[in-house]
Amino acid sequence: EKAGFEHFMLKEIHDQPQAYRDTLSGRLMGSYPWVYLPELKLKPKRLRQIRNVHIVACGTAYHAGLVGKQAIERWSRLPVEVDVASEYRYRQPLLTPDTLVIVVSQSGETADTLAALREARRHGAHVLAITNVVGSTAAREADDVLFTWAGPEISVASTKAYTTQLLTLYTFALHLARVRGTIADAEIASAVQALNRLPDQVASILENAEEIRSYAEEIAQHEHLFFIGRGMDYAAAQEGSLKLKEISYIHSEAYAAGELKHGTLALIEEGTPVVALVTQPELYEKTVSNIREVMARGASVFGIACENTANLAEQAGRMLLLPATHPMLTPAVSVIPLQLLAYYASVARGYDVDKPRNLAKSVTVE
Ligand code: M6R
Repeated sequence: EKAGFEHFMLKEIHDQPQAYRDTLSGRLMGSYPWVYLPELKLKPKRLRQIRNVHIVACGTAYHAGLVGKQAIERWSRLPVEVDVASEYRYRQPLLTPDTLVIVVSQSGETADTLAALREARRHGAHVLAITNVVGSTAAREADDVLFTWAGPEISVASTKAYTTQLLTLYTFALHLARVRGTIADAEIASAVQALNRLPDQVASILENAEEIRSYAEEIAQHEHLFFIGRGMDYAAAQEGSLKLKEISYIHSEAYAAGELKHGTLALIEEGTPVVALVTQPELYEKTVSNIREVMARGASVFGIACENTANLAEQAGRMLLLPATHPMLTPAVSVIPLQLLAYYASVARGYDVDKPRNLAKSVTVE
């Protein structure tokens, strides 16, 4: 069942090109309406009445929500809040019938996420579940469901569930924006074309994993590491940091690159590893100046850039180049090397990759 891979996690990382295809299949069109989500019960009239969106989830699914927020706000101009479910459920969120609550859960069984779902429904909000498990509690109790079609995810560390959650959130965000008339057709078309290219792009990243592996072996010697980035890169950095902590037990922090000088820069010393994500053309110069700041304090920087932001990232000592995609979609490519980094660091340290200490695959207790 591991299909010849040493661990489920590595298999699931390699499942991603196919999982991307399965999740996008039947949902993207070559022309108007570009994105097609026939399973949605929320019809255009109701979608146009939505006034705000809450995305609620735990762990990795929460990190997918951080990306979803940026996509929905950018394309449909609706205010979006993202919360971890264990906070949301107790903070008396401001819910109205015109609030759309999106719960994201691979398993569809996470206790806090289900409690948030129930709380939202009790207040008359419309709840859309994004889940990987048909027949799960979230799928049954929500008003609407979009499945992620990642296939079973066995490894405790979530990989293909995260990326397929991203794709589902992107398609929903594009659909919502088109229905609300807040996005130009050309913009949808360019995002849809970029989505269609992702499976092959991910496959090509996976073919060139050696550089990541050697970097992972290097960081396996360290106890602390930073991930930095802005915008979409900050969201992807948070997921990369969780993955690394979860299975390699290396302490890491994801920082919004511009926030470093407000405190964390004090922790950078000679040799501190910093993974810098630089995939956003609009923000690239700003992040490059943060890279210079940490390098001036002795950090050893590993840059991750896309082909269209490459020259900028050359500032970093070492750089991994990823295929260029639509700037809103970059987490769907940039997280792949971060997953591999965590995986190979865990292997280098000799840990049980698929079953990290103290953790369960599905957190069904509060
Ligand atoms: O099944 P869920 O998506 O609701 O699970 C949420 C988190 O427990 C999960 O994503 C967790 O953070 C992963 N182990 C991270 O890799």
